[in-house]
Amino acid sequence: MITFKKKKVLHEWTTDKKLSGQTIGFVPTMGALHTGHLALVERANKENDIVVCSIFVNPAQFNNQADLEKYPRNLTDDLQQLQEAGCDVAFTPDEQEIYPEKEQKVYDFGHLDKVMEGKYRPGHFNGVALVVDKLFRIVAPHRAYFGEKDFQQLQIIKALVRKEGHDVQIIDCPTVREPDGLALSSRNARLTEAGRREAAKIYQALLMARESWSDKSIDQIKQQVMAYINASPELKTEYFEIVQADTLLPAKEADTHNGNSVVACIAVYAGDVRLIDNMVLNS
Ligand code: PAJ
Repeated sequence: MITFKKKKVLHEWTTDKKLSGQTIGFVPTMGALHTGHLALVERANKENDIVVCSIFVNPAQFNNQADLEKYPRNLTDDLQQLQEAGCDVAFTPDEQEIYPEKEQKVYDFGHLDKVMEGKYRPGHFNGVALVVDKLFRIVAPHRAYFGEKDFQQLQIIKALVRKEGHDVQIIDCPTVREPDGLALSSRNARLTEAGRREAAKIYQALLMARESWSDKSIDQIKQQVMAYINASPELKTEYFEIVQADTLLPAKEADTHNGNSVVACIAVYAGDVRLIDNMVLNS
């Protein structure tokens, strides 16, 4: 595996490979890699000649300085894992390389970034869009791989690609979970023992919502889920929403009959660790 720190060198390298007819799969990450990230790398490896993975903890997408400082970092271990998963190139730029000057750009994603994560983490998706836009220009991949774990982010990335006209195919990858259902996340390492045990209830709550979808109203499902999560002394729901998958507008009971995919999205605090998850309710 080769490691590049400079965008110009990486861009020339990928351009050269593309000219020789090789396909490039790209996996952007913020490091602290786990099996969920590696599943994206492995899929990219199967579907492309070359896999590029970026590791960059993007300050622009943290609306909270303390969260940025607490974000786990372990580059040596990450590089080892990437190599073992079949990654060909790691891109590990520093902040100056990605943001040589202060960024002013503000994207308009309409409704997509006004709700859920966008509402509770103002500026977050603008920061995600800024960095992913830059990374797509540097790597210029044929395909880019994103996890359904960050469902709203996936919709934002697809909107970004349409808006900026990037010639890249976005591939959705299923959420990888622990045996008890907790979605893998770099933040799980910061959970207390009790917090970790109780966090499995997030998945249980989503399963409950899916079971209830055909015979309860949306309001009833919301109440049921909030009551279940908030009954745990370790957990506190920040939001629980049931939305149409493509638009992120509030879902309606009739959506299933109209052929719309409906997704339940949740954000929960376990102590000071913020966890998100989601599940399609009508597939
Ligand atoms: P990060 O949280 O490191 O996640 C990188 C990618 O891994 C994202 O596409 C995310 O959805 C995916 N992922 C994380 N946990 C997963 C799981 N349990 N199962 C499947 N996929 C999972 O998302 C980001 O970084 C950043 O916002 C980024 C897109 C890199 C921009 O900075």
